[in-house]
Amino acid sequence: MSLLTQGSFHYRQNEFFCDDLSLSSLAERFGTPAYIYSQRTILGNYARLRGTLARIPSLICYSVKANSHLRILSLLRQAGAGFDVVSGGELARALRAGASPDTVVFSGVGKTQDEIDAGLAAGIMMFNVESAGELAAIASRAQALGKVGRVAIRVNPDVEADTHPYISTGQMIHKFGVPKDEALDLYRQAARSPHLQVRGVACHIGSQILDVEPFWQALDEILSVARHLAAEGIKVETLDLGGGFGISYGPEPPLDVERMARGLQERLREATLRLIIEPGRALVGDAGVLIMRVLYVKRNQRKNFVVVDAGMNDLMRPTLYGSYHEIVPARTGTPDRSREGTRVESREGPLERSHQDTADQPREANAEQKREGTPQQSHEGKAEQSRKGAAEPSRQAKPDRLLADIVGPLCESGDFFARDRDMADVQPGDLLAVLTAGAYGYVLSSNYNTRPRPAEVLVHGAQAELIRPRETLEGLMAGEKA
Ligand code: LLP
Repeated sequence: MSLLTQGSFHYRQNEFFCDDLSLSSLAERFGTPAYIYSQRTILGNYARLRGTLARIPSLICYSVKANSHLRILSLLRQAGAGFDVVSGGELARALRAGASPDTVVFSGVGKTQDEIDAGLAAGIMMFNVESAGELAAIASRAQALGKVGRVAIRVNPDVEADTHPYISTGQMIHKFGVPKDEALDLYRQAARSPHLQVRGVACHIGSQILDVEPFWQALDEILSVARHLAAEGIKVETLDLGGGFGISYGPEPPLDVERMARGLQERLREATLRLIIEPGRALVGDAGVLIMRVLYVKRNQRKNFVVVDAGMNDLMRPTLYGSYHEIVPARTGTPDRSREGTRVESREGPLERSHQDTADQPREANAEQKREGTPQQSHEGKAEQSRKGAAEPSRQAKPDRLLADIVGPLCESGDFFARDRDMADVQPGDLLAVLTAGAYGYVLSSNYNTRPRPAEVLVHGAQAELIRPRETLEGLMAGEKA
């Protein structure tokens, strides 16, 4: 089963909707660019994931970094989620959203003394410790504050996961975690310390992983650490498998979560350990879109450019990872009853896929990452792509279609959402929606080029609520000394 069966984003006749509100009406009301989230999809994703883990004693700790808006945290908290945080800031957000501290795990390779103190003061469930130095720091701060630091060691399971190199974490070449042997040593130290309490074994192998096997391998690794510790009389209560559950951005199927869960359950059958998972993207990724207006359509002898009012500062993923995002018009030219009720879902594939077979389309699972390869390859790849697009103006054959780069207004050639995209023809003033932008969208945004960040809107059925106003220029410059 897909995590993406919610269908909050769909066409009704010629209008694109989020639940019961058209994106055109939302743009009218809140302006562009704006992030639009569906409460129904967020809660649906959580409930479905919870359902797949029903037979395993487990806690879903939402990875706050994916989308840290307080309302989203509090929705998930009310639904029963705990939280995975990676900074003092994220810890403060989780607590402000009402999280019970004993549902919070604190990950991250570079925790500062202030952050350690904040975690100790709050009494969080556990620190996922990433080095010997960090373990010593937690012990010494716990001693100073008269607290006990509850810990898991993040084991680097040396599992290869097929994903973009920037978001793969579970191998020895990565900065994350410690090798198994070193982890065992650290557990022995922790068990001896009166200021520390061993809680669990943790790992996280990467993000946007579409195969089940790496998760099973990683669980085998941390289970074997827990067994080893049990044999030495060191008791562990929790196994934290991390996040990374891949979703569908195009035609590729998402991770088969039910199959993954069955494999986890088999492996955990005899253990009395509680499982923690830390999904981020899988809960919020398909629950958000970025809406933007077409400002200009530019043409030269080689290329077409659709210039929109959102930029790489609003949504970094295409620029940073070469990521593919489906982009659809908020209103199609003529009422199209044949598309009524069409869901934008991974299973059926994206809308109008039959027309889309151009340079930036993913043709296989993980194609976006494979195409990009290493950062160096990625630049070459992009250059190659531009050349290909440039050499074939005849590819824009269909009269109602356009082969274009969809680009933002920033002074960077890397400021694009799509390249050589076969898209419905658009005019200035038309509204487009970048799909699957709910995770790692707003949180990665910046004010580059002194651009105020977009508004954020939460849709609940036929209601829309402005959950964060668009930033103002005044606000942007506040605090600066002239
Ligand atoms: N737990 C840990 C320790 C993590 O480092 C991460 C993500 C997660 C959980 C959640 O992973 P998820 O379930 O969302 O895949 N900005 C990138 C993704 C970076 C992920 C970093 N760590 C992107 O836009 O694809």
